[in-house]
Amino acid sequence: TNRTFTMIKPDAVRNGHIGAILAQINEAGFRIVALKYTSLSTQKAGEFYAVHEGRPFYDELVSFMSSGPIVAAILEKDNAVTDFRKLIGATNPKEAEAGTIRAKYASSIGENAVHGSDSDDNAAIEGQFHFAGTEVFA
Ligand code: GTP
Ligand code: MG
Repeated sequence: TNRTFTMIKPDAVRNGHIGAILAQINEAGFRIVALKYTSLSTQKAGEFYAVHEGRPFYDELVSFMSSGPIVAAILEKDNAVTDFRKLIGATNPKEAEAGTIRAKYASSIGENAVHGSDSDDNAAIEGQFHFAGTEVFA
């Protein structure tokens, strides 16, 4: 078993998809070990996505991710990182496989409904970015 980190992004929250997305995550075999409804300041969003600093879409990404509330969660499952990225689909919803969360709920490459960590190391870093140890329930 291992863990990944996810956020339901402001577009999917605004569009009323929190419940459906969490249900699809559970049905795919992920267990929620930490969960919160929160938001990112522009400063915090900039830090979270610092790896993309300098890319042409960075300012848009930071402003979008701080545009409204998000849901942050740590998820547990065998092969969590890989399996979760399969479940969410490609970054660009036009390229996302049918049935994936992004195919169903994302509107564009920028406003793409969910985040999923891209490695075990980043899953741990991103989980700690959002949650104190006392907020995680193994
Ligand atoms: P995350 O799970 O959010 O990290 O997405 P990803 O791993 O599928 O994509 P990546 O890490 O390469 O990019 C991070 C986020 O930046 C994406 O999810 C998009 O929201 C945004 N992004 C990436 N490429 C573009 C782009 O070309 N234009 C815009 N507007 N946003 C982009
Ligand atoms: Mg990424």
